[in-house]
Amino acid sequence: MSVRIAVPREVTPLERRVALVPEVVQRLAKAGHSVTVEAGAGLSAGYPDPAYAAAGARMEDDRKALFASAEILLKVQPPTEEEAGFLPPGSVLVCQLNASRNLPIVARLRDGKVTSFALELLPRITRAQGMDVLSSQATVAGYRAMLIGAELTPKFLPMLTTAAGTIRPAKVLILGAGVAGLMAIATAHRMGAVVEGYDVRRAAGEQVRSLGAKFLELAINAEGTGGYARELTAEEKQKEAEMVSKAVAEADVIVTTAAIPGRKAPVLVRKEMVERMRPGSVLVDLAAETGGNCELTRPGETVVVNGVTIAGPLNLPSQLPYHASFMFSKNLQAFLELLVTKEGQRVAGYTDEILAASLVTRDGTVAHKGTADLLSAGGGP
Ligand SMILES: NC(=O)c1ccc[n+]([C@@H]2O[C@H](COP(=O)([O-])OP(=O)(O)OC[C@H]3O[C@@H](n4cnc5c(N)ncnc54)[C@H](O)[C@@H]3O)[C@@H](O)[C@H]2O)c1
Repeated sequence: MSVRIAVPREVTPLERRVALVPEVVQRLAKAGHSVTVEAGAGLSAGYPDPAYAAAGARMEDDRKALFASAEILLKVQPPTEEEAGFLPPGSVLVCQLNASRNLPIVARLRDGKVTSFALELLPRITRAQGMDVLSSQATVAGYRAMLIGAELTPKFLPMLTTAAGTIRPAKVLILGAGVAGLMAIATAHRMGAVVEGYDVRRAAGEQVRSLGAKFLELAINAEGTGGYARELTAEEKQKEAEMVSKAVAEADVIVTTAAIPGRKAPVLVRKEMVERMRPGSVLVDLAAETGGNCELTRPGETVVVNGVTIAGPLNLPSQLPYHASFMFSKNLQAFLELLVTKEGQRVAGYTDEILAASLVTRDGTVAHKGTADLLSAGGGP
């Protein structure tokens, strides 16, 4: 028994990743599954068609035929409405659906009787670590954000002793020390900068210090449920602003990564703080997509305010598509192990905790409560 798996080319503007890389295709083919890949799907990530063919994939030029043939369709981005319409009833879609922001697509999948799983809804439990796309892609984003900071600063990052004089190391400040922030810290440290990190979760302190950086400690521990941060009270926000303001004024490069699940990103760097920054300093706002950690961030743009460069890059994982796709693909491989039995059949029920939490549509209904509530509240068709 085998399952027919299909991987299309991503059509979202600026998306360079692909859902499966040849190495994972080969594993699935060896396990007896048939894998069809759209021609050119991996090209912009550095995986050419011959590599897929050599791994055992069948290449398909016709997008509609590819979608129509899928028992399980694997994607990075949510499908377009047209793509959702190509999927046959009873097929399974696995991707980053961003369900709450894509209600019309969810409705289309529901009406088309497609079973869909949203990878951003995976519970962040130990057993799900291998399939956690939020973590793998945040690792890429943190690394890229630091490289953008290094490229935009007019300074060296490391200390240098040269015949032309001694250069002091740059000061890098990372606000938010979750998965992306820790990767940015590690990257800045490897580049020779003096690094400071800040997070509202006290547990992050040990991780920041273990990477060779100083932890900015506030007398607050805002650890909420599931290891995530909670929103600060007004009084706590004031204390935070005082401490952050001083560190911001002294930094050469700032990377901000602070997020609270399901909410707009907290604003940590206000306009007045930017005004106190030195000309030439740089802020890279990794939270640009969810509103920004800096008040002056313009999503998708790089602006200069009083000589301070503020970058608000979008879809950073797509800027390192080879390894972002590799990690995403490994995550999908782990997810498929839950979805397909060892005998090569799709599992009948989705009772497994991980599948149940990420299931969005099934048999013409919306199974995910939060999304169903949004739809019935008039947020979609
Ligand atoms: N499977 C697992 O067990 C698993 C997987 C991934 C992450 N995690 C844990 O989840 C936690 C957060 O992960 P994430 O990177 O996805 O988080 P995230 O993207 O939701 O947030 C990024 C960081 O911003 C911080 N933050 C929020 N408000 C802030 C504020 N006002 N000031 C400063 N920082 C603020 C958060 O504490 C978090 O560390 C970490 O403890 C991580 O280790 C666990």
